[in-house]
Amino acid sequence: MTMKTSKKIAVIPGDGIGPEVIDAGLSVLNHVNDARNLGLELVLFGWNADEYLRTGISIPPGGMDDIRNNYAAVYLGAFGDPRVPDMKHAADILLGMRFQLDLYVNYRPVKLLNERLCPLKGKTRQDVDFVIFRENTEGAYVGMGGHFKKGTSDEIAIQEDVSTRKGVERIIRHAFEYAKKTGRKSVCMSDKNNVMRFGGDLWLRTFEEVAAEYPGIEHFHMFVDALTMQMVRAPEMFEVIVTNNMFGDIVTDLGAALQGGLGMAASGNIHPGKVSLFEPIHGSAPKYAGKDVANPIGAILTAAMMLEYLGNTAEADAIESAVVAAIEANETTHDLGGNLGTKAAGAAVLKRVEL
Ligand code: IPM
Ligand code: MN
Repeated sequence: MTMKTSKKIAVIPGDGIGPEVIDAGLSVLNHVNDARNLGLELVLFGWNADEYLRTGISIPPGGMDDIRNNYAAVYLGAFGDPRVPDMKHAADILLGMRFQLDLYVNYRPVKLLNERLCPLKGKTRQDVDFVIFRENTEGAYVGMGGHFKKGTSDEIAIQEDVSTRKGVERIIRHAFEYAKKTGRKSVCMSDKNNVMRFGGDLWLRTFEEVAAEYPGIEHFHMFVDALTMQMVRAPEMFEVIVTNNMFGDIVTDLGAALQGGLGMAASGNIHPGKVSLFEPIHGSAPKYAGKDVANPIGAILTAAMMLEYLGNTAEADAIESAVVAAIEANETTHDLGGNLGTKAAGAAVLKRVEL
């Protein structure tokens, strides 16, 4: 079976609140799949901390190839469990998929769905509406480096920050292509090239070269410290932001807060045209696990993003509209000011999906 014809979705609920929010997302996804005859085949994967602790294996042999060869997408909850303090299984599975499936685009929209959810004073839905593209296969995440004289007073630790021309160019190009396709007017590249001279030089040169191919789109550079300030002070100045892996990790948590908190934000780990992975930005929040309190909206919007990636744009839009309506009706979990549990908040969205 080739990727293009596959309609199989690997569902990996993971740890902590992952299974609860994925359940809510699946109820919406299953409804849309049935009502619109999308033909998606959802396959449950039990890769999580329990399984890792039981077997010592995070990904069963052949598991990654199975996903690579037979699936259209992965729908993932969250990883992280206090019983696995080094996060070994999380690193193997989540970072493993990002690297081994070469999911170089981390797509993290920052879109305010209701003014009252924004922690900033006087900002409207139009003001908080931009997209962050985080490079997802390089940077400080590659795990290159090491210890020397570990555990002694002379200890040295080196953690490399890797940028390749190919890696930098493809994420920057993706940001400009996205801007062109969606009618966004500008692309901001953010880094710290006043200090990190080598990588920064490569990023800036590549940015200027790629930008020259898109004369209709404005481009500007901003140091990442200034970016965090401007995202809070004047989010309306941004349409598309592109940045490296680590800075992207940090500024997208800030982006989630601008939309109403970590429980609201969706993300895609994408290799255009290939199997891609969709997950809410929030983590496994072990202390809330099993309590029916977690906000399911990030997971539901993630399902919508996955549908959009698979070409089902109308269905994705219908889900987003249902989320907007549920928030307007204040039928949400506590973090958004409502008084519903995870299940009921999911049902409040589901009943508003108009296909
Ligand atoms: C994210 C998370 C991950 C990351 C962790 C869980 C490894 O924070 O997806 O933003 O740092 O990329
Ligand atoms: Mn993060």
